[in-house]
Amino acid sequence: MCGIFGYIGNKKNAGEMILSGLKSLEYRGYDSWGVAIKKDDSQIYIEKHTGKIGDASLPAMDSSIGIGHTRWATHGGVTDANAHPHISCDKKVIVVHNGIVENYEELKKQLIKIGHTFTSETDSEVLAHQIEEFLKEEKDLHVAISKLRSQIAGMNAVIVFFPDKETFYIFKNGSPIVLGEKQNEYFVASDASAIIPYTKHVYFVEDGEMVSLNRNGISLFDSEGKNKDIDYITLSYNAEAVSRGKYPHFMLKEIYEQPTVIQNIASSQLETVKETAKRIINAYGTYLVGCGTASYACLAGTYLFSKIAKRHINFSIGSEFSYLLNFLKDTSLVIALSQSGETIDTLASVQKAKAKKAQLIALTNVLGSTLYRMADYSMLLNAGPEKAVASTKAYTAKITFLYLIAHEINRTLHEGVQNISRAVREIEGLLERKSHIQHLANRIKNKNNIFILGRGVSYAAALESALKIKEVSYMHAEGFAAGELKHGVIALIEEGTPVILFNPEDETYEDTLSAAHEVKARGAYVIGVSSRKNDVYDTFIEVKNCQDATIIPNVVIAQLMGYYLALAKGYDPDKPRNLAKSVTVK
Ligand code: F6R
Repeated sequence: MCGIFGYIGNKKNAGEMILSGLKSLEYRGYDSWGVAIKKDDSQIYIEKHTGKIGDASLPAMDSSIGIGHTRWATHGGVTDANAHPHISCDKKVIVVHNGIVENYEELKKQLIKIGHTFTSETDSEVLAHQIEEFLKEEKDLHVAISKLRSQIAGMNAVIVFFPDKETFYIFKNGSPIVLGEKQNEYFVASDASAIIPYTKHVYFVEDGEMVSLNRNGISLFDSEGKNKDIDYITLSYNAEAVSRGKYPHFMLKEIYEQPTVIQNIASSQLETVKETAKRIINAYGTYLVGCGTASYACLAGTYLFSKIAKRHINFSIGSEFSYLLNFLKDTSLVIALSQSGETIDTLASVQKAKAKKAQLIALTNVLGSTLYRMADYSMLLNAGPEKAVASTKAYTAKITFLYLIAHEINRTLHEGVQNISRAVREIEGLLERKSHIQHLANRIKNKNNIFILGRGVSYAAALESALKIKEVSYMHAEGFAAGELKHGVIALIEEGTPVILFNPEDETYEDTLSAAHEVKARGAYVIGVSSRKNDVYDTFIEVKNCQDATIIPNVVIAQLMGYYLALAKGYDPDKPRNLAKSVTVK
């Protein structure tokens, strides 16, 4: 979703830094972009465009202050005029905004009535005009911004740039915003990964807080307007972690990072695993909540907890949990899974769970994210920044945590750790044999449908695998419980339909094999993923038995399949159409 970047400092290339900041936020998803830069000759340079930044550059200019924005359209179409920044009539207030001003129509009507001219259809533009209006009665910027905040409804993250005063006001509610500091230079961004090339010294602004920033320094105010010290933290990753390095795409890089990420969890996160296991044991009931890929990790979790820990753990997708949580008590535990920690469908529902006094645990990849801060206890995936839109390493990291927690509850953590190491070796083996998967992708790239089947935890893997293939290759792929097929879906199988069958050597093995025969008899091209070869498979991908951790290498096969299908069809796997990395609108 939208990305924000701002700079105030002593360097003369603010424009370059802002453009490069916006490029590093591209992965969040956007359809237009813009900048507002005050040049050293005091002129304000504005540029706004639809489409991608790509290789865009700005004209040479000396400047040390400005803001930029990538927009993912919500209110108003994708047009140059609707791109941010938005500017007040007197040109003294410039705004970039992430989120939604829910009551903008009412505010806009009143502002038009008193003479303001709007140049866009966005909700965001009201912010600039409303501040201009307040400043007519009240010269103090701080008071004007506070008044604005009390008038607007909805989640937001905003930089208000007063070019005359060379001052930014920054505030947020819900949507993320990070400050970076380095010897008289300040950076503001939606995501720390845009700041890390300059400094690791960052502060995640809290909901309700407000920051004023100018050449004299920075002040932070709490939600009651009181001055507050800024507790900067030091990020643990470096600039390489947010670049593609030797890989052609972030998606491939992140697929390759999985062995390290997963092994690290099994080696150095065991205290966190134990603490969460304790909290689950003490809870009255536990609910796993997440969206998209995170929801499929939750679903896998229900199988893993049932089988390994002999515990019934509930599961809901984030956007539905609000309608299911009436029975929560103060002894209930909600574990929210979210790579970004900013997914609004997840945040909104867990907020309601918190209002019912349920305990909240976050399993997220982003230190300082909204979910991280909202939770009573937070587990960090420590997977490093995930930049490709399609989630890969965050998914397998989530599964690793859930798998180990289930083992800890069963007092078999050691066995769990050993199986994770086996899974890691299997992923490494698959990466060595990736050309087989690429070959298969080329073979099936023109088919109308791909089906993915599994039972038990492999059913959850099938759903995640289908999502991965769909989002990056735009091919129709569906995951099904292998037993459910004959209740209807088998009608779709025709000569040559590719069917990927997850058939680990567990309690599902024989029944899943029957499904292979059923689809094969109707002409399917069966891709068997198993530790045991069988004649029913037209092609076989060997994954050795890692007990229930086999789900991890199995899903890696689908990640690679999705990646190579995207390449075979000529798509950029890192930036699939219509998708955003961080989904901050409902
Ligand atoms: C799929 C994908 C999305 C996200 C979903 C939740 O590859 O990336 O389905 O998993 O939008 O995102 P997080 O985990 O950030 O809450």
